Amino acid sequence: MSTPVEETLVLVKPDGVARQLTGEILRRIEAKGYVIVDLKMVQADRGLLEQHYEEHQGKPFFEPLVEFMLSGPIVAIRLQGNRVIEGFRSLAGTTDPTTAAPGTIRGDLGRDWGLKVAQNLVHGSDSPESSSRELALWF
Ligand code: RTP
Ligand code: MG
Repeated sequence: MSTPVEETLVLVKPDGVARQLTGEILRRIEAKGYVIVDLKMVQADRGLLEQHYEEHQGKPFFEPLVEFMLSGPIVAIRLQGNRVIEGFRSLAGTTDPTTAAPGTIRGDLGRDWGLKVAQNLVHGSDSPESSSRELALWF
């Protein structure tokens, strides 16, 4: 079966950078066979984050989420591969790191720290539309 080559936006969030897990996360991405097309370290500003998370505006976790994402540098990655959008989401695991499956980035490396918002190490675009929109924001 032939499948489309896609691109997705991956972010190593401030908790992942601060915990020095960037290398471990990149190792898992590369071991899976996805191609890193572009990569940079960014200190995001509020405007960028409000656009990035526009679907969550108005939710109770929105402000804590923006504050968390402002708390330190982020590593932004343009990642390419067949079905990479769903493939990276599968590598990342589900949102809550306490219940994310072992074997995933969030399941193996994340936990509940008792904070106002889940710190879960990585972001991955959730659809082709999100991927195009988010890559244009970050790159
Ligand atoms: P992401 O967008 O960062 O890849 O994560 P996701 O799709 O798994 O989760 P999403 O629903 O898009 O939420 C974005 C981020 O907001 C925080 N969050 N906290 N109920 C909560 O406490 C809650 N819900 C979401 C997480 O950091 C999540 O990744
Ligand atoms: Mg999301």
